[in-house]
Amino acid sequence: MAAALLATPAAAADLAHGALVFKTCAACHNDRPGALGPDLKGVVGRPAASAPGFRYSAPMARSGVVWTEDALRSFLKAPQSLVKGNRMPFAGLDRPEDVDDVIAYLKSGGAGG
Ligand code: HEC
Repeated sequence: MAAALLATPAAAADLAHGALVFKTCAACHNDRPGALGPDLKGVVGRPAASAPGFRYSAPMARSGVVWTEDALRSFLKAPQSLVKGNRMPFAGLDRPEDVDDVIAYLKSGGAGG
């Protein structure tokens, strides 16, 4: 039972579904000039507020967060609870599989806008 539970997340990570979920993010997160959000290519493992050329809010810039998978999981479920006062106008993802799959997609290097 425990082994089956442990095996589930990796087995369930679905890049195609992650790419679909990312379409919601890509409205703001893309590499076009004037994009509302920072470029997320390579975001997994990098410190918060480090995409070149993007003007982050002070709370995000001072958060000290590093975007590990765990930090991303917590942020994407409830963006305002991990980094209070950040400027991302997004309520969060309700379904755990959406969170896991979009993280798997970002980790695979995807974040095409
Ligand atoms: C309506 C626009 C919008 C949407 C939709 C949106 N974001 Fe954001 N996101 C932002 C903005 C703006 C920031 C910068 C926040 C700040 O500086 O406080 C941000 C910041 C982030 C950061 C921190 C990046 C860094 O370089 O530190 C991550 C990670 C992130 N968003 C992931 C996502 C994901 C994944 C989705 C989709 C599930 C998503 N966002 C949806 C606008 C958006």
